[in-house]
Amino acid sequence: MHASTIFGFLAAAATAVLAVPHPHKEKAAVKCPLIFDGRIKSRTLPTDFDSSSTSLFNPDNVKGSSLKWSQIVKFPKEKGSRFDNCSHKPLEVTISDESVFKTQYGFRRAGLIFAADTNTGSPASKGVKTLHFSVKQDLKRPLNLTHEYLNIWHETSDWSANQFNFQTGTIIGQDTRKLPKNTFKIMSRENKLIWQTPIEKKEWQNFAITLDFNKNTLQVYYSKGNEPLRSVTKAVPNNNAGEGQYQFGILKKPTGTDDVVNKGYQESGIDEGQIYGGIFIEDSAGGCVSL
Ligand SMILES: *[C@@H]1O[C@H](CO)[C@@H](O)[C@H](O)[C@H]1NC(C)=O
Ligand SMILES: *[C@@H]1O[C@H](CO)[C@@H](O)[C@H](O)[C@H]1NC(C)=O
Repeated sequence: MHASTIFGFLAAAATAVLAVPHPHKEKAAVKCPLIFDGRIKSRTLPTDFDSSSTSLFNPDNVKGSSLKWSQIVKFPKEKGSRFDNCSHKPLEVTISDESVFKTQYGFRRAGLIFAADTNTGSPASKGVKTLHFSVKQDLKRPLNLTHEYLNIWHETSDWSANQFNFQTGTIIGQDTRKLPKNTFKIMSRENKLIWQTPIEKKEWQNFAITLDFNKNTLQVYYSKGNEPLRSVTKAVPNNNAGEGQYQFGILKKPTGTDDVVNKGYQESGIDEGQIYGGIFIEDSAGGCVSL
């Protein structure tokens, strides 16, 4: 074979290899009606989070009073998660020593609330809804798993309870042999473990939680990387009453106190972050869940 023919053959072979479907093509589409879309558009700037005219979320809550959201959010150079497409990018929520909300000196917290998620009468707190989110770790801003973290939850409108918590770290007052610190945990309204899985250091971890506000059940779906979600629990009984709002970010509890809101120990020099992707809420009436 003449050299140029071999070259042509190799070039054709290389083109064929490149023609393998682009990873973006394998990304999953949202199949059910969207209630709230919290996926971050590629062109979004940190300062967009500071104003209600440009933010998908409440620009005023829940964060340290001295901080703006543009000082809290970052856009890490990571590929998007399963439900992010080419027009979305991951979002990192960070906490620092300044992350003190009002007089809650025990907590370090920064939590995003969907702008349209009203405390009462929200469409996301009735019927059957599925909250989707993916998480990834920032190895430069690790969480300190000696502490208890709330990352995502739904809080009742009277702020007396959370219908569920998505947590990590050391859950105060619970058996660390059953709830090791290095797992993500989905906890019931009564703070009982529903499901847990180890924290991955490198891959995206994708979760979906279906809340049936009529039947008072909760069902968990999970996958790693770009795998389709699969159900990892049945629809288990959970008291979903009391409306309220979804929140995601970081709420780090202190150690060494019974009064976690106001007191306790937090080390100084905190620089921690949690990366999120593919955040949205869909309507799961009739059993629809995007996998
Ligand atoms: C990405 O998702 C958005 C919804 O946020 C949709 O409008 C857009 O068409 C999608 N883009 C692609 C390339 O699929
Ligand atoms: C983690 O938290 C514990 C308890 O507050 C503290 O003693 C320890 O120094 C922290 N570790 C790091 C690496 O910050």
